[in-house]
Amino acid sequence: MNKQALKSLVALALVVALFGCQDSETAKEQPIVEEVKTEVVQADKNSAELEKDTPVVEDLSYLIDEHSYANKDEVVLTHIDLDLDVLFDKKQLKGYADLSFSRLEDDAKTLVLDTRDLTIHKVSSINSDGIESAAEFELAARDDVMGSKLTIQLKDGEDKVRVYYNSNPQASGLQWLTPEQTAGKKEPFMFSQAQAIHARSFIPVQDSPDVRVTYKANIRTPKQLLAVMSAFNEPDTELDGDYHFDMPQAIPPYLIAIGVGDLKFKPMSKRTGIYSEQAYLDAAAKEFEDTEEMIDITEKMYGPYLWGRYDLLILPPSFPFGGMENPRLSFITPTVIAGDKSLINLIAHELAHSWSGNLVTNATWRDLWLNEGFTSYVENRIMEELFDTDRAIMENALSVQGLRDQVKSLPEGDTVLHITLDGRDPDDAFSGVPYTKGQMFLVFLEQRFGRETFDAFLNEYFSDHAFKSLTTPEFEKYLAKHLINKYPGKVTQAEINEWLHNPMLPDFMPNPQSDAFANVDTATTEWFAGDLSLRDIATDTWSIHEWLHFINNLPADISLEKMSELDNTYNLTTSTNNEVAHAWLKLAINRGYDLVNTRLEDYLISIGRRKLIVPLYKALMDTDNKSFAKRVYAIARPGYHPLAQGTIDAIVNPTLEAEN
Ligand code: BES
Ligand code: ZN
Repeated sequence: MNKQALKSLVALALVVALFGCQDSETAKEQPIVEEVKTEVVQADKNSAELEKDTPVVEDLSYLIDEHSYANKDEVVLTHIDLDLDVLFDKKQLKGYADLSFSRLEDDAKTLVLDTRDLTIHKVSSINSDGIESAAEFELAARDDVMGSKLTIQLKDGEDKVRVYYNSNPQASGLQWLTPEQTAGKKEPFMFSQAQAIHARSFIPVQDSPDVRVTYKANIRTPKQLLAVMSAFNEPDTELDGDYHFDMPQAIPPYLIAIGVGDLKFKPMSKRTGIYSEQAYLDAAAKEFEDTEEMIDITEKMYGPYLWGRYDLLILPPSFPFGGMENPRLSFITPTVIAGDKSLINLIAHELAHSWSGNLVTNATWRDLWLNEGFTSYVENRIMEELFDTDRAIMENALSVQGLRDQVKSLPEGDTVLHITLDGRDPDDAFSGVPYTKGQMFLVFLEQRFGRETFDAFLNEYFSDHAFKSLTTPEFEKYLAKHLINKYPGKVTQAEINEWLHNPMLPDFMPNPQSDAFANVDTATTEWFAGDLSLRDIATDTWSIHEWLHFINNLPADISLEKMSELDNTYNLTTSTNNEVAHAWLKLAINRGYDLVNTRLEDYLISIGRRKLIVPLYKALMDTDNKSFAKRVYAIARPGYHPLAQGTIDAIVNPTLEAEN
């Protein structure tokens, strides 16, 4: 069944609904709908088994990935062989991709792929003897969100095509750094970031998380550089500019990743290690030395780690995210190397994706919470085991407060877990909702069913869906069968609906309570009442989390005198912890405490992680000091990743953006 047919089916289902078949019993008697419906389910290889009593009339549009042109229901990619030169002078990846596919419909005549800003030189079909023959193709006009659809005419009996192409310097999923933009200053650096829909900017591919491919790659780079990928990386490979990778496990295209630079490798344990520029290598290996233990902890809770090695690639500070869960090789911002392990929940998070996300994957970007909510939940469980409950609760409480603050200013629709994107770029709807509201939904279930029962459910969920993708409605069916209905009387359908389909936060959302934070609040109140001086607050025992809670909960109208008293006592402006600095700088901007400006400028120029800088630009643009934001952004922008540039362009130069 193709998209078109699926759309007609959705229309048909609506007609049936309009004619009064709301009752599922009546609907079951509609043989036509029943028949077509069965076909959809069979064609969708990733659909979880449907229960017999599923009402027939329902909106099936959730099965469509609105962010991909791919005809994955007719012809689906199964394997990719990449052969690419990394051309730093041209900022291009250039070569070819061999795409192996399987036909779900015997008479399928075309393979439809996603591309964005790719130059396609030639396409050929490859027969079973490996002989190439020219294949016709058409590259459609570029859509701002989706890119350009590439349609390839298939030859009967052949199941592989070769696309000769190059990426272009503006590729949304690649960042090309000059030597000056690296720590070592001697060699260039390039890295990819494919989630959500950027793989298509460097590989012609069916860029949907509902598609899974294995891949191999031959990558040629300048001789002195090392290439690494989200695949098997040989820890002591020869540095010769010619690298080979094999990813034998099927992964969605958004997990294909590459990094090239003056990289060194340092092992941390049997199956973990650091790839990084020399400048961060030792500090990162120390900071993240608990990674192996995190794997052990997660395996005990949720089953074996199935991906072989788990290495970390430390990127330059312009990496637009904190981390990215590329399989076998998470990509990590250097901004979390704090020296005291205070921010290593990020590693727990990216590792947790080896279960939630990489093994069990959201089928569309509307279902992102299935990746990020589950991962945030598992992340916090890892932190609880590795440290203790106090730390896990503090981290959870910080996220929940962040979420509560954030939902106040989000469009209501964006606070729904099963979000409606309506063709918007998933990046534009990105927020803490899929993370923390998703996590708290699972915490809610854990509390209602008990940890033991809930863990057993999660284990079963991971193994039943291993190497598969699923949608939110498919998850709901699974949840009903394997948890809600199995232990009746604990959770109502209305509660589930409220979590998954209603905006804002349920008033029955669990509220993590930290004793340590309560003590911080008491100290704050006493200081404001004049009963306690700053020097007498026991801050020397405070963790970074307590500091963050303290700063985040200072009154919004705190005076400049109090700001400078804080700064003089605690040196907050010069804090080397990037999260603490972020919280303090944001407050300082809001209060007009401009003694931070030199530090703020330096921070914005040296860090490109969106989560840390976007709120600061937003805060600046809300003040009378917009010129400061514009001046600093003009300096910082060339060093930012294309994704960060896009986000901040819209904040700092909104009119320019609207004109484009
Ligand atoms: N997979 C995400 C990053 C992402 C999400 C990229 C959506 C593109 C689209 C990654 O695992 C992540 O969540 N990173 C967080 C980590 C944090 C929650 C600990 C980040 O980058 O801040
Ligand atoms: Zn994540």
